[in-house]
Formats: sequence, C-alpha cells, structure tokens
Amino acid sequence: MNNIDLDKYFKPDLKQARKRTQSSIEELQFDIGDAHQKIGLGKTYKIDTYGCQANEADSETMAGILELMGFIATHDEAEADVIIINTCAIRENAESRIWGELGRLKNYKRQNPDLILGLAGCMAQEENVVERILKKYQHVDIVFGTHNIHKLPEYIETAMFNKERVIEVFSREGDIIENLPKVRQHKFKAWVNIMFGCDEFCTYCIVPYTRGKERSRSREEIVGEVFELVKQGYQEVTLLGQNVNAYGKDFKDVDYTFGDLLRDLEQTGIKRIRFTTSHPHDLDLKTMEAMRDCPHVMPFFHLPVQSGSNPILKRMNRHYTKDSYLAKLNELKTIVPGISVTTDIIVGFPGETEEDFLETLDLVNLAQFEGAFTFVFSKREGTPAAKYEDNTPEDVKKQRLYILNERINEGYLKGNTRFLDQIVHVLVDGVSKHDDTVLAGYSEHNKLVNFKGDPSLIGTIVPVKITQAKTWFLLGELA
Ligand code: 5AD
Ligand code: SF4
Repeated sequence: MNNIDLDKYFKPDLKQARKRTQSSIEELQFDIGDAHQKIGLGKTYKIDTYGCQANEADSETMAGILELMGFIATHDEAEADVIIINTCAIRENAESRIWGELGRLKNYKRQNPDLILGLAGCMAQEENVVERILKKYQHVDIVFGTHNIHKLPEYIETAMFNKERVIEVFSREGDIIENLPKVRQHKFKAWVNIMFGCDEFCTYCIVPYTRGKERSRSREEIVGEVFELVKQGYQEVTLLGQNVNAYGKDFKDVDYTFGDLLRDLEQTGIKRIRFTTSHPHDLDLKTMEAMRDCPHVMPFFHLPVQSGSNPILKRMNRHYTKDSYLAKLNELKTIVPGISVTTDIIVGFPGETEEDFLETLDLVNLAQFEGAFTFVFSKREGTPAAKYEDNTPEDVKKQRLYILNERINEGYLKGNTRFLDQIVHVLVDGVSKHDDTVLAGYSEHNKLVNFKGDPSLIGTIVPVKITQAKTWFLLGELA
C-alpha cells in the first residue's frame, strides 16, 4: 500500500488538541450496521495493549467491536489477520518499546501481505508519530486515535477491501460514544469508564492532548452498566477517568459529582468499588464522606502528589502546595480511618534542585504512603515543560529515583505489616505466578495476598488470615 498524497489523511494537531471550547459534548450511540457484521468471519485478531487502565478498557472495546464483526481472538501473531497495537505516550521509554514492536511486526507483514496492522491509542494522537509512520512505517495500514475507536469497522473494511492506508486521528475535543460492545478481560472484575479526557494541563503531561476535554458519562449510563455487571456475576468495578474527582463538573443542568456517583453505585449490589485516578485539587469532602458511608467503596486511595516542593508544584501547574496536599490527606485519613494511600512521584522535573528533592522526601515521610509509582521526568514534545531549562544530569536524576524508591519501599512494608494476624477479604484473581497451588488476589486495601487454596475459589471473595508481611505482598491462610 503506497501513499501518494500525504495531505489526504486526517492527522493529529497538538495545538488544536490543547483548545477547550464551550461547545457541548455529543452523546452518540454505537451501531455496527449490517455491512460490517460479517467482514471478520473465519478471521482472527490480536490486540497488544500498552499503558494505563484507560487503554486496557479501550482494548476491551476494540475486541468487542472486532468480535461483532466476526473476528476471533488469537495469541498467535503468525496466524492473526488483524493486529492492533494500542499505544501509550506518557513517557519516552513507553514509546521506544512500541517503535521496536512495530519494527518487529514487519516480518509478519512480509510473510502475510494481507495482514492488517493497526496503531491506536495515545501515540496516534501525536503529530510527530503520525509523520514518522507515514514516511517510515509503510507496513502500518491503519492509524486511529482515542476519539474514534467506534469507527474501527470502517477502517478495517477500507484497509481490507480497498487496500488503502487509513490514517484518521481527530484532535477536536471528543464526544461520548455509548452502547459500545466489550470483551472484558476478566469475568469478575471490570473497568467502567465514568469520564474521558483531562483539563488539568499539568505542564509535563501529554494526556490532555491525547485524550481531549474532560467529559463525564451520564449517571444513568454508568449505573446501568454496573447493574448489568452485577447481573452477570461481577464482584468488583474500577471506575476509570484521568481525574475521577472532576466527574460531573462538566454537567450543565445537574449538580451531580463523584461523591453522588459513589453513593448511587453503592446501591447497585456490586461488592467492591474502586476508582483511579485522582487529582488532589479536585478531591472534595463529599467524596471522602461517601467513602466513609459506603462499605462497598474500598478503603484505598491513589492520590498522585508528583513532588513535595512548592516551586516545582507551581511549575507543574498542580494547584496545591505541600501543606495543602498534606492537609487534604489528613482530612481523608480522619474521615476514612485505616485507608491505604498510594501516590505517583516524578523526580528530575526541569530545574529540580537538591533542596526541592529533599522536600519530596520529607513529604513522603509525612504522608506515610503505602506505595508509589515513581518516575524520572520524561520530556514530551508539545507540552510546556518540554521547553523548560533542564540542567540536572541524568545520573543525578537516577540517583534521586533510587533514594526515593528506598523510602517508598519502607512504606510498602509498613503498610503490609499493619495487617499481620488480621483477617482480610481477598477477591481471588487466579493462581500465583510462581506456584500453582497458591492463590493470589487483592484485599480491601489493595494489598496483594498469597495463600493456599483451591482454584475453584477464583472469582470469589474469601477471608484470609495474614501470617507474614513482605514488602510486595502478604502471605496468609484461609480463615
Ligand atoms: N514524565 C514522567 N512521568 C510522567 N507522568 C506523566 N507525565 C510524565 C512525564 N512527562 C507520570 C505522573 C502521572 C503518571 C500517570 O505518570 O506521575 O501521575
Ligand atoms: Fe496528566 Fe495532570 Fe491530567 Fe493526570 S491530572 S492526566 S498528570 S494532566
């Protein structure tokens, strides 16, 4: 498939993606249409997913659409008729891995010229990525972004029958598409999108550009989806959004926010409610009180802080200070006693001094996090921080990451040790990776627990007495 006219494609535009207009969001209904229903009969597909839970959930939708078209899942790349790479753009190393993958998949395309190779997700929303695909990765047949997954049937049809390359990435703010089919990864725990996009524009982050404007799904759609999951035997839902605490703030006609949603979902009969991810600036009292009052909302909170230094927080555009973060955290811990809190931290943000880093370590001590995802700052083209002066040598940044991780690991162990001799309730995920007589699952506080038990317990919630606490997991026995 040779492209001749590079301008015929719908390419992304990061400047356009930054715009936020007042225009209202449309809610559209997905409909597969007769013409697309049999295209995949007798054919197979494989989806490789990188990145966050939003991508996991999007891949479930892509799988749902492909199966409605008649395709069947396969793990075998050599056999697949369609391969889709659902990509992540959050840091440079995520992207490097994906470029490597795309290179590797070229061999399969040589062996099977009819193979359709698709690139989806956040990387597809970046102009430089699409330019590189157009010029150097001729073997990629379809490129589509995060806003138009519902158009996958059209794209496959064009690539398959017209033998044309399809590049269609929208940079406008995005609509909400309901009634999308899904093939869920698990039979007992499910991702449920409650909102899309992000309006925070932290200066290091590409997500507001790749996922568009903040837009919330309606209460009715979310509650309806969770009711349906309960009917199907699901035990746990994880509510997804880039900033779930901003849920509902975009509703013009109703005053209905995240705390209200938690209370309504509590009534659906689902046994466990989790959510990710949160922004401290939008976390409100109503949410904390809903967590206190709703026993099915799990006592766990991932509350990214990013840095403990006020000047850095300001340049990150985070809208809080070290003290105001700690005050909110203490309020949360007072209202929901025993809650487990984890965080995200970036070291080596442009201009971060030793003193700034020490502020971060001090905050980690004060906050008593029970875990964290820690990162070295990665420059993302198109974001404001990409232009900030950055004089800190890479080895100093790595050293800071190492020191930070040591502290964080102490927090993991401390957080696990507090459950020694206690009975926790574990939703059993499966057998342990290392020993198939051992089961593994997560407790209310999101602690990984291993214990001996029969595989028939997978998908159920069981009481486990904790006998040993390690840094990364707990050991126990069925109580
Ligand atoms: N560099 C390093 N880490 C980043 N994150 C987001 N953007 C960047 C970046 N450019 C981290 C933040 C965020 C998490 C999902 O990824 O800590 O909370
Ligand atoms: Fe990125 Fe900040 Fe939005 Fe999180 S809140 S997705 S870090 S811009």
